[in-house]
Amino acid sequence: MFRTPLAALGLIATAGAAIAAGLPLTPQPVNTDALPDVSEEWLTENPYRDAGDDVWKTAIEIGESGFVQNCARCHGLGAVSGGLAPDLRYLEAEEMGDEWFVERFQTGYTQDGVTKMPAFGELLGQKAAWAIRTYVETRPDDGTLEAHTVRLLEIRDDLVGMSKGGEGDAAALHEELKGIAAEVETGSGAPVADSAAFRAANLISGDAPDYAHAAEALTVGLSAAH
Ligand code: HEC
Repeated sequence: MFRTPLAALGLIATAGAAIAAGLPLTPQPVNTDALPDVSEEWLTENPYRDAGDDVWKTAIEIGESGFVQNCARCHGLGAVSGGLAPDLRYLEAEEMGDEWFVERFQTGYTQDGVTKMPAFGELLGQKAAWAIRTYVETRPDDGTLEAHTVRLLEIRDDLVGMSKGGEGDAAALHEELKGIAAEVETGSGAPVADSAAFRAANLISGDAPDYAHAAEALTVGLSAAH
């Protein structure tokens, strides 16, 4: 039910591309010190999903870096699959999806003696697994942000101006970004999508708004969507 015959062919192509791009082929350790510890035994459900906003955000951040280092060369940047390995954004964000995720993470996948996905469990450990899981399940589904591209580029330009001391209504932009972010859905069914609009809204809220990074989040998010 989860098999894709293309994955076998894809692996050869992506491995070649990975070497060409200089991406590492052996599992790269992920620093998970900032995340709360979990039990010794492997859990069957993501402990960071409902652990509160701070832990959740930290998990996404650490998970993103772990994903880029270890998974992206086969599963695609931003977890958007190029068709060579399964698109991980659609693995359901509940226990069944979680169990399947950690099973694959721990043991990898070998077929007819050929390793198609390396095992990561021993080297990266459980905290890294759930951080990557949290990153993957909060990826935005295709579509929604694209509908707002024109407006988001205008907002991006406003933020660039504001980062250089220009005038702007930060509160209004924050509300607007939050509104757009709320429309974006995940492919996994997780309630909140960590979209570019979501990140930008967070970056300009609070006492120390960071307009430059918010603008950058929009630039990166919008270019990744195309
Ligand atoms: C060398 C390529 C490669 C790398 C690197 C890789 N994978 Fe995979 N992964 C695959 C392939 C191929 C499959 C499909 C295996 C199959 O047919 O069941 C797969 C399947 C999976 C599945 C099952 C998805 C599904 O819908 O059935 C998960 C979960 C997964 N990988 C997670 C990861 C994570 C997390 C990482 C990084 C820590 C990672 N993979 C790194 C190639 C890779």
